[in-house]
Amino acid sequence: MPNDNDLFDDDPKASDKPSAGSAPRNQQPAGDGGRPGGVTRRRFLLGAGTAAAAGAAVGTGVTAGINAFGGGSDKPASSATAVAQAGGTSLGTPDGQPVNQAIVKLNVNGTDQWVSVAPHQTLAEVLRENLGLTGTKISCDRSECSACTVLIDGVPHNSCSLLAIREGDKKIVTIEGIEQGTKLSAVQQAFMDNMGLQCGFCTPGMVLQATALLQRNPKPTEADIRHEMSGNLCKCSAYPHILAAVQAAAKATAV
Ligand code: FES
Ligand code: FES
Repeated sequence: MPNDNDLFDDDPKASDKPSAGSAPRNQQPAGDGGRPGGVTRRRFLLGAGTAAAAGAAVGTGVTAGINAFGGGSDKPASSATAVAQAGGTSLGTPDGQPVNQAIVKLNVNGTDQWVSVAPHQTLAEVLRENLGLTGTKISCDRSECSACTVLIDGVPHNSCSLLAIREGDKKIVTIEGIEQGTKLSAVQQAFMDNMGLQCGFCTPGMVLQATALLQRNPKPTEADIRHEMSGNLCKCSAYPHILAAVQAAAKATAV
């Protein structure tokens, strides 16, 4: 997500404005710092999780269930479907017990998977902890660095700030999903060839962000790349190499 910390943009000439092919990443929930009314990120997630689960319970696309599913069943048990109470703002079983797990069908790297998640679990947590896809990194955990970038329906998102329960039936692609058979993707190969990393912690997010850019804009200008990658932060400051890697990937995939 392009942001004010535009470390890629070291030469912001007026003529270097990104071309029309550039597009901002989705809006992400802000962190807790300075939020009016004292709504912290944790409280936001907990509240949103409850609301999402309630929405799921009344049939808005995610199947919600009671914790009884969590023990290994890969299908929700209809008799345990959760119900919304009090105008859809709280969730409970018919006998008034709170719901602490829900079943959501996630399509990850082309495969549908039923996953038992807590309503407050982020997509990044579920990918890493429930599905073992540890290529998705969590760094700031508050939508500031984009280390946790995944593609959802082809668009880069910060998975640390999305609730897994709300991502049912969308197509999620992680860094594990972009290899082509046993070969690295063109973007992965370009990062290797151009030393587009040091510690590598930001690299999965960088690669996925660049992949989305090249899918939408196969011939980006340097300004396009700087703009599109500006929300992805690299603590090692490997920016010149990352820029070179994305340019090389664009050349390699140009038709
Ligand atoms: S933006 Fe998700 S870990 Fe930093
Ligand atoms: S290579 Fe270390 S954070 Fe980017």
